[in-house]
Amino acid sequence: GKGTYPYYMIKEIDEQPAVMRKLVQQYQNDEGQLEINEDIISEIKESDRVYIIACGTSYNAGWAGKQLIERIAGIHTEVHLSSEFAYNTPLLTENPFFIFLSQSGETADSRQVLVQVNQAGYPSLTLTNVSGSTLSREAKYTLLLHAGPEIAVASTKAYTAQIAVLAILSECIANSKGFESFIDVAHELSIIANAIETVIDDHEIFDHLSVTHLSSSKNAFYIGRGIDYYVVMEAALKLKEVSYVQAEGWASGELKHGTIALIEDNTPVISIITDEVTGPHTRGNAHEVVSRGAHSMIISMEGLDRKGDAYVLPKVHDLMTPLISVIPTQLIAYYTALHRGNDVDKPRNLAKSVTVE
Ligand code: F6R
Repeated sequence: GKGTYPYYMIKEIDEQPAVMRKLVQQYQNDEGQLEINEDIISEIKESDRVYIIACGTSYNAGWAGKQLIERIAGIHTEVHLSSEFAYNTPLLTENPFFIFLSQSGETADSRQVLVQVNQAGYPSLTLTNVSGSTLSREAKYTLLLHAGPEIAVASTKAYTAQIAVLAILSECIANSKGFESFIDVAHELSIIANAIETVIDDHEIFDHLSVTHLSSSKNAFYIGRGIDYYVVMEAALKLKEVSYVQAEGWASGELKHGTIALIEDNTPVISIITDEVTGPHTRGNAHEVVSRGAHSMIISMEGLDRKGDAYVLPKVHDLMTPLISVIPTQLIAYYTALHRGNDVDKPRNLAKSVTVE
């Protein structure tokens, strides 16, 4: 049950530090090293490209995963929407390896791709929260998210669990390839667990921001670049589905190529800045919207913060920032929905698992 929590969504947001810690335990061997089934590691090592296939929030997690697999394990990785990939399949490399991301393991769009992948005889791995689910049974391999049941329709802890498992997987591949390690994923995940707790403790800040700037707004924008762009796509999806505020998650450099026409007086624009290189550019883009009347709120990371930022995230490893920068956006979606009087756990028109194509 949801215990003392008013909604499952906020309970599940709150569970994320525990999920991060549990994943480290689950994937650690007796010597305290991260370890994943050798067959999975060697099949991925033999492949010349990883194709991540998913829908919705899991798709958004896939982009953070691509960054991890490419940077840590050094394997080219593409991310595709299941419903697009199934009927408009791109030219594949010679030895593709497929990773299906699916909290429920029952999503019909993703299953359609898996059926085709199996027919073609390509190896596949499902990352899912539900052992014994369809995608788990039908893929060659499975890795579990260990996030505990996710009841709220809006996915929160499965997003962070998927990214964490992909980080663990990436490190195991890198170790097996004999790469000199530059990231200790288990250590970083424990830092992240504490950092998520800090952000959740500050929940009143996001409650206040939601009431003041979002709950009566008809639209909103999240902007970011690079790794922060991946997160703003998820931030916008979460806000849309539970609060019904029309939201765009946009690459901040692209705003001026058209979308900026939508900025009016007091349009909320939330920037996410955790990337040192692109941070100043996003700040420049935030400045451009302010001069068109937008209400700009910047969520930055310790070390990259400036006076006047709406919130400063605790510092975590550069490649792992989605795990922390997504937390304020989950809370903003939750509080905005709450203040608009919506049924937070069961948003209109949505079902927890989508079993039709
Ligand atoms: C968003 C959401 C959906 C799911 C999508 C994929 O909060 O819940 O976008 O992420 O339907 O579902 P799974 O991961 O179960 O395949």
